[in-house]
Amino acid sequence: MAKLVINEKKKLGKINEEIYGHFSEHLGRCIYEGLYVGEDSEIPNKNGMRTDVVEALKDMKIPVLRWPGGCFADEYHWKDGIGPKENRKKMINTHWGGVLEDNSFGTHEFMELCSQLGCKTYINGNVGSGTVQEMSEWIEYMTFDGISPMADLRRKNGREKPWKVDYFGVGNENWGCGGNMTPEYYGDLYRRYQTYIRNYSGDGAISKICCGANSDDYHWTEELMKKTHDHTPKHLHGFMDGLSLHYYTTPGPWEHKGSATEFHEGEWFMTLKKAAYLEELISKHGAIMDQYDPEKKIGMMVDEWGCWFDVEPGTNPGFLYQQNTMRDALVACISLNIFNKHCDRVKMANIAQLVNVLQSVILTEGAKMLLTPTYYVFRMYKHHQNAHLLDSFMEISEIGTDECRIPNVSESVSIDEHGDIHITLGNLSPTENQEIEIQFFESKGRQVTGSILAGNMTAHNTFDQPDNVKEQDFTAYTLTDQGNIALTLPACSVLHLKVTA
Ligand code: AHR
Repeated sequence: MAKLVINEKKKLGKINEEIYGHFSEHLGRCIYEGLYVGEDSEIPNKNGMRTDVVEALKDMKIPVLRWPGGCFADEYHWKDGIGPKENRKKMINTHWGGVLEDNSFGTHEFMELCSQLGCKTYINGNVGSGTVQEMSEWIEYMTFDGISPMADLRRKNGREKPWKVDYFGVGNENWGCGGNMTPEYYGDLYRRYQTYIRNYSGDGAISKICCGANSDDYHWTEELMKKTHDHTPKHLHGFMDGLSLHYYTTPGPWEHKGSATEFHEGEWFMTLKKAAYLEELISKHGAIMDQYDPEKKIGMMVDEWGCWFDVEPGTNPGFLYQQNTMRDALVACISLNIFNKHCDRVKMANIAQLVNVLQSVILTEGAKMLLTPTYYVFRMYKHHQNAHLLDSFMEISEIGTDECRIPNVSESVSIDEHGDIHITLGNLSPTENQEIEIQFFESKGRQVTGSILAGNMTAHNTFDQPDNVKEQDFTAYTLTDQGNIALTLPACSVLHLKVTA
């Protein structure tokens, strides 16, 4: 029996909806086919955006979308992607598969997509191969309402009013594909580039995100915080609102990461252990940030995370297309529970990537679409968005192999604006059910509803069998008069319970 104790009176902080954010790059079939098919496509669409995908993402309550990269961002020149499509510059996507990029999806299309999704916008600028002027003009093009060369150009291209840019990233992975810079050098560039992210609407609307570390590169965080942690309020052009962190979960070494669907129990435990390592990364990077920003005004933005396996056999290695099993669902469960528990510092997280790339919530094949196990986890967890984290404690035990030990259960708990409590739990064992008792501080009558995602560890959805794994109602619990709950959490499952007093 594992016991989860919840202090429903103790709120520990707001869980920003952006923690449930996503990422879309011009990579493989993410943008083209996955999201955008063009107005003339036979695949049902609205202004070129696939209707099936947009509807599914709305149902999952996607809060924010990052674009255009990734590594692509530091090669992207935004002026290539505006104006009449037939005149847009064609280029080779050298980073990702060497395919033709016709720039038919650009700024206007991204803003249209976010408007259909009803989500916030996160644009990633180009520092690696772009100029300060180019970045500054992009901001002017998107957000200036008055008379100016860029605002006039936007109007000429059919958009009268400025758009809202919620977040702007100043470069991506500038320690690697974004220019191979040292933190000292990038820190100076960041200070310079961010100066020209003008706040034209005057309300501090654009949050500026500085490129942060890869995994455990604590030196990068130290140097960037030292150089740029200035706390002046946004309307006075403070240096940064967020510092990013990238971390991918790979069971094996980079050259042999392992198959997404064919793996043994040892790889299951290794993958979940590596996902749980996020806890240490956030704590250690957070401790450095605390030294310079004790009031936690600067958000840690984990703007790339998720599983990275070998590509599906027979697919373009540069497209990073992989399947998605119950193992991915448990990685999402562990990661999102960790982000929730660190909501005092983690203000945004963006799983990589939205459709058809790495740990996607949706896969497509021509006109067909399927929802992955990871999709269902995000849909079950949507109730945490903008809720308050509650103090909770789980008595866990360790499971795994001799070399690889992990906790048996992952959890987090929040309370929403209506006073409903949301509990998300994952059973990390691929084979053993787990008895769980949930206790609240206050004893009183309660009602419970729930849904569960379960299957064996390699279970996944295919275009022939799209409903192998899906969220189902969960009623197999008992409720005491004191309002405590007892249940059996099936092996390899993710559960959401809504508790109403
Ligand atoms: O998500 C795929 C790639 O991973 C991104 O382009 C890059 O930022 C990271 O290395």
